[in-house]
This record gives sequence, C-alpha cells and structure tokens, in this order.
Amino acid sequence: MKPQPPQDQTVKKQTAEPFQSLLNKRITRRDIFRYSSAAVSCSLVSNIASPIAFASTSESLPQFEEISHAITQELHVPKGYQAQTLIRWGDPLFTDSPKFDPHAQTAESQLKQFGFNNDYVGFIPFSDQEKSSEHGLLVVNHEHTKEKIMHKNVYRRKDMTEEQTAVDIASLGLSVVEVKKIGEQWQVQVGSKYNRRISPYTKMKMSGPAAGSERLRTVISADGVDTLGTYANCAGGITPWGTVLTAEENVHEYFTGKVKDKREARNYRRFGYKGKKKKSWSKYFKRWNLKKNPNEFNHMGWIVEIDPFDPNSTPVKRTALGRCQHEGCNLQINGDGRIVAYTGDDDKFEYIYRFVSKKKYRPEKTLEAKAHNMTLLDEGELSVAKFDEKGGLEWMPLEYGSGPLTSENDFHSQADVLIEVKRAGDLLGATPMDRPEDIEVNPKNQKVYVMLTKNDERQASQLEPCNPRVENKSGHIIELTAPNNDHAAKKFKWDILLLAGNPKETLTNYHPATSEKGWLACPDNCAFDQKGNLWVATDGGEDLDIADGLWRINTEGELRGYSRRFLSVPIGAELCGPFFTADNQSLFCAIQHPGGGSYFDNPSTRWPDFEDGMPPRPAVVVITKQDGGVIGAE
Ligand code: FEO
Ligand code: CA
Ligand code: CA
Repeated sequence: MKPQPPQDQTVKKQTAEPFQSLLNKRITRRDIFRYSSAAVSCSLVSNIASPIAFASTSESLPQFEEISHAITQELHVPKGYQAQTLIRWGDPLFTDSPKFDPHAQTAESQLKQFGFNNDYVGFIPFSDQEKSSEHGLLVVNHEHTKEKIMHKNVYRRKDMTEEQTAVDIASLGLSVVEVKKIGEQWQVQVGSKYNRRISPYTKMKMSGPAAGSERLRTVISADGVDTLGTYANCAGGITPWGTVLTAEENVHEYFTGKVKDKREARNYRRFGYKGKKKKSWSKYFKRWNLKKNPNEFNHMGWIVEIDPFDPNSTPVKRTALGRCQHEGCNLQINGDGRIVAYTGDDDKFEYIYRFVSKKKYRPEKTLEAKAHNMTLLDEGELSVAKFDEKGGLEWMPLEYGSGPLTSENDFHSQADVLIEVKRAGDLLGATPMDRPEDIEVNPKNQKVYVMLTKNDERQASQLEPCNPRVENKSGHIIELTAPNNDHAAKKFKWDILLLAGNPKETLTNYHPATSEKGWLACPDNCAFDQKGNLWVATDGGEDLDIADGLWRINTEGELRGYSRRFLSVPIGAELCGPFFTADNQSLFCAIQHPGGGSYFDNPSTRWPDFEDGMPPRPAVVVITKQDGGVIGAE
C-alpha cells in the first residue's frame, strides 16, 4: 500500500484501499508466530516494515476530533469537550486545612491537603442515590514525589533537609474526597465526614497467610500483624463491595542499609533493592534503614484494601495476593461467585498474577455481607501466568509444598512463598513480560486486557510471541480469553490486541484506518467505556517525541485495533486513572508530574495555575462534553 500523507481528523470519504483489504493486512498473532519462528533469534521482528500507512477515516467511524501529538505546556481535549481541574496538590480536604503555600510547606499541613503525584483514581458512587454518576467518593493514590519541582533549592536529592523529607513522606499515600456535580461543574466537598488522608504513618494491619510471620516482625511491629502506612501506591481497583484496593509498587526505592540476614538479602535483591539511596527517607528516619530495621521492607509491596465509607477504618494489607511491585489490582466476579483478581508486577521481565478466592461473593447490600466480602481476599489460590507460543496460557499455582516451592528451595510456609513471590514465579518457569501494568476485564466481552508498557532490555534471544520485539520501547497490549468466561479456569487463550509505537519506526499492528495522530506509546493505565472500547493512558511518550495522554481503541468487530487520540497532558506529565462514571458522561483523569524533569524556580510548565512563583501541581481533572452526553460518542 502506498503511504498516504498524514490527514487531519476531517472526515473524508475515500480510504486508501478497500476496507476489507486493509483489514486483511492487520498483523495477527499468527503472523507474529510466523515472524518469530522464521527469525528464531528474531531480530527480524523489529525490522519488519509496518503494513500500515496512515489513512483518512471513514465516515462510518465514531468520531471525536483527534488532537495533536505536540508536547505543550497545557492539557488538551478535543473540540466540544472541557477539562475542569477538580483538585490539585496542596488543596484543602478539611475545614482546618492550611492554605497551600509552596514556599512554606510542612508535614503537618501536607497531611491535611491533597497529596503529590496523583496516580490511581477511583470514583465510588453513593449507591443509594439516584444520581450515582454525579455524587460519590473519589479515592486517589499519591505515588511518589519529584523533589526538585516540589521544593525550592533542591537540585540534587542529597539537598533534601529533614523538614523537606518529612513533607515528602507526608505527601504520599492516598486521599479520599467527597465530590459532587452541581450544574455543569464538579465540586470537592471540603470538610466532608468522608474526607481522609492516608499516609505512610496511618495504622494498618496485615492479613492472610503471611500475617504474623516472623519475617514481618520489626521495631514498629512486634507481632508481624500491626503495620504502619502505605506509599509508592501506583494504580488500584474498586471491589464489588465498595472498598478500594491500592497497589504498592516501587517500594524498594525508599530503603537503604546493608542487610545482614542472607535470606532477606536475597529476597530484597530479587525485588530490585540495590542498597543505594534513591530517596532521603532513611537518612533521617531509621524506619527505612534496613541495617537497623531489617524486616521493614517485608511490610511493603502488597495490595491494601481500604473502606472509604468508614474514615476510621483500618486499611488491611492482603498478603494472599503476594508481594511484588504491584501495578494495580482489578476484580471480576466469576460465574460461580468466586472473586478473581488480576495483578501485574511492573518491572522488566516480571510476571502476571491471578488470585481466585476460596469463598463466594455475597451480593446483598447488608453490613453482614460486606463483612463477609472483606474476607474474600485472604483465602484462595494465587497463580502466575505461563504463556505458550501457540496462543495458550496456563495459570500455575503458587502453593507451598507443590513442585519446587518446598524447603529444598528455602520455602517453609505459604508466608515464605508470598513474601518471595517473584522467586517462586522464577522457579515455576513463569513468562517474563515487558513490564505488566494495568490488567482489566472488559465488561462487554469479558476478556482480560494487559497493558505492557515497554522493555528496552529485551534481547533477540529473549523474544517470544507474547513479547515479540527487541528493545521494546513502546509497549503492547495483550488480550486474554477465559474459556466460557470462567476466569478461574486453569488455561486461557491469548492474543495481541496492539503492538504500540510509531509505525514508521517499529513493527505495529494498528487498524489501517488509524490516523497519524492515532499512534501511541507505553500503555500504562486503562478503562473501558459502555461499548467495550478500551481507553489507554500512556507514560513514556515524550521519549518518542509525542505528548502522553489518552487514546480510545476498539477491541471488537471490524474496527478492532483502531486507535484515536483523545487527550494530551502538559510537558513532563503522564496520564493516570482514567475512570468513567457509570453513565460515561464524566471521565476522571490524574495528571501526574507536570513539569517533571525541571526545577521549582524554572519549571517547564506552571500547569494548571500558570501563576508566577507557583510550581506545576499534579491534579485530577474531570472531562465532560460541553453539551453533556456520553464521552467519545458522536
Ligand atoms: Fe507506577 Fe507501573 O507505574
Ligand atoms: Ca502505572
Ligand atoms: Ca506510570
């Protein structure tokens, strides 16, 4: 096919080739097998010319005006849409929250304000109300900090003072805020009885098989059950019983100190711990010094369940889901009533996990049923994914005593398997992936979609059909199919929905109707609309010279793989969330680290305030159509 010049979003009648002929050229999983086996060592895969050329779009395609790839200081949405900044770093949650002053930050004020670097966003409606898409609780993760843009006169991490470090710690965790749509605008209900800041200091409990393990006994936890706080919270998920799951991800970056115990040294090394200072926390606070508090690291890397409707509740770390760099955790009610959780371990060559509860979900809206449901994630089977070359996937149980998970390999209990779940996965021969991020079930077709953000270290000798590109800089999306929609089944099928990236530079398989603005890179978070379209948020586009943002991708039918750009974030930022209200008329998006890579005094953007002296502020925005209506629809 002759390449077409880039077209704008303007609807054109002609396509470059007859539609069916274009469809036939979309790369399928079978093609990838062919390429990979022809190449064995497979450098060919990265060199195959992409079969797509940018086409003008057919009139029959659902339209919103695509926006440009340009990296700018602002946030952009298509014509006819509006992005309201709902809540920013430093905004008040309580009636006594101090006014935000970036020049006079304290840990005390930060603990009463919206935290830094919002990542996960979940909206849980008040279920007994009619307007369930207009009133609810927003639960937001605060993943990590960018010290140089957050504080004046911090140019290197070692410039951080104890006071600044205390602010840094207090700015992480989560915020719970009541939000309400009044007229055309959403409003934060400052002072709501539900508003809460959860921090690295909040009292929590461990539950499940690893709770009470001697490997969890620390200077702040004599019993290995009590624990303090959560941080490095990346994405998450909402349970059918109205609680929130938050995922502890890159927790290894907060510790320093030499670990004497050889077993824990091996455990921490496998988690990515190198002993070097990435943060200033351990310099001032011994809790994060592993020489003085050697087991503290084992309290981190879990999925934490929080009941946002009870601001006095104690969050619980659900150890049955394993300890790794959890990106997020999304649940599915299986046909037989059991709960299935999918979670990815976000690092290069890490694994995809699935948990199936032993007990069944109770759907009644009673306190008793909720209490029962809040035990479901404590007991069940955790397994890890092994992909084969022919489109099959096997879930391999991570069960103490079975296969290699015995004392011969230094596993002496299920607690040991869960604490060192990465090493257990190694021994089972799980498939190392290109950084598993969000994993979500499409409510329309019940298939499971896995965002694999990138892996620039994958070599030709490590290629396999499910990770088919060397030095994968732009990521891909895998689709898993459970047989008869049985998400507890031992074997699934898999396919590739999308090989992302710039089609001029790497092998991609966009639907040929995709325009020049429709290509994306580094899929990270995702959401589904009512029609089953996948909305993909990216983190890493600037490395490929495009702004990060949000794209809509068709998952089914003739337009499968058709990608269209909806939103772009300000320079330095990534997009997190995203989260649709049930009516699909409001879309919450977290804009994380705007101005990232620049400094407090001279930031690359001052989004969203654009006021002299005010640094850029991570914020949650809510997107609506100017005339109301469903987002993304014609
Ligand atoms: Fe925190 Fe996997 O991104
Ligand atoms: Ca992420
Ligand atoms: Ca990210």
